[in-house]
Amino acid sequence: MNDNLNFYHKTVLINETINLLNVKKSGVYVDATLGGGGLSQKILDRLGNQGKLISIDVDQDAIDYCKQKFNSDSRIQIFHSNFIDLDKILDSLKINSVDGICMDLGVSSHQIDCPERGFSYMKDAPLDMRMGKTGKSAYDVVNFTEEEKLSAIIWKYGEEKFSKLIAKSICKSRKLKKIETTFDLVNAIEKVVPKYKFGHSAKKTFQAIRIYVNNELENLDIALDKCIKLLNTNGRLLVLSFHSLEDRIVKQKMQFWAKKCVCPEKSPVCICNKKQEAILLNKKVITANETEIENNPRSKSAKLRVCQKI
Ligand SMILES: C[S@@+](CC[C@H](N)C(=O)[O-])C[C@H]1O[C@@H](n2cnc3c(N)ncnc32)[C@H](O)[C@@H]1O
Repeated sequence: MNDNLNFYHKTVLINETINLLNVKKSGVYVDATLGGGGLSQKILDRLGNQGKLISIDVDQDAIDYCKQKFNSDSRIQIFHSNFIDLDKILDSLKINSVDGICMDLGVSSHQIDCPERGFSYMKDAPLDMRMGKTGKSAYDVVNFTEEEKLSAIIWKYGEEKFSKLIAKSICKSRKLKKIETTFDLVNAIEKVVPKYKFGHSAKKTFQAIRIYVNNELENLDIALDKCIKLLNTNGRLLVLSFHSLEDRIVKQKMQFWAKKCVCPEKSPVCICNKKQEAILLNKKVITANETEIENNPRSKSAKLRVCQKI
């Protein structure tokens, strides 16, 4: 096993995240997206002997890697699961509430760098993109989704303005031969999308298919609602997102929790019965500085939001 902390994944905004989590020595914390365990390691560094860390990942590779990495540390319990089941996991441990939850969304560098996982438009491999390695793969979506729906997926999850043309080109290509590899998909896209000045012409489509295959936005929406319920008073939720679709969901949820009232502005008295659930710890979103972006280009799109339950 490679012990280099950055071998599996270089954690983005790690100092900001760990400082804002405000780890108490005997606290109970959740790392909902374990990955290579970079953030879990930082939490463990600050936890005392009585502290607990519950770390989750849907990807068996992350679980295998981290079980070996944290082998002898009894403070951490590792679960191969989707974070939408966080409530069930805590139930199974007889834990009602926790002091902090972190979510570092999206894919790890390991997932992107392993060609056989089929996430990358830069490496030729069977089309897959499943973080959990089960269910419908990118191959199924690309080859068996009707054109109109495919176009809607590419538009909704990739915000790709050429979505209609791309869906048409995919459907034309797959009539001749199934789209089996990442490069088959790139070829179908490049037939209709002009070379972008910035970024690869397949970037947005790959993002869209990946988000759809892994149900990423719906999972995030469900999980956030569970997280706020599972926090202790003064417990903190930190979410690191990497594209505007994710960030919008996080921002809207946190802003909603921070509101005392959601009545229409003109309403003379409050009738909504809304209770403020949290305060926002960073009114302005936290992003990576130039040095971090230079050292880790993946951090360029990172946005960290933090709230504290009241
Ligand atoms: C950006 S990486 C996390 C990196 C980690 N913070 C570190 O320091 O190494 C995101 C991880 O979240 C996992 N993941 C994504 N969606 C998930 C979900 N719904 N449930 C559980 N894990 C998920 C991915 O499999 C991936 O390993």
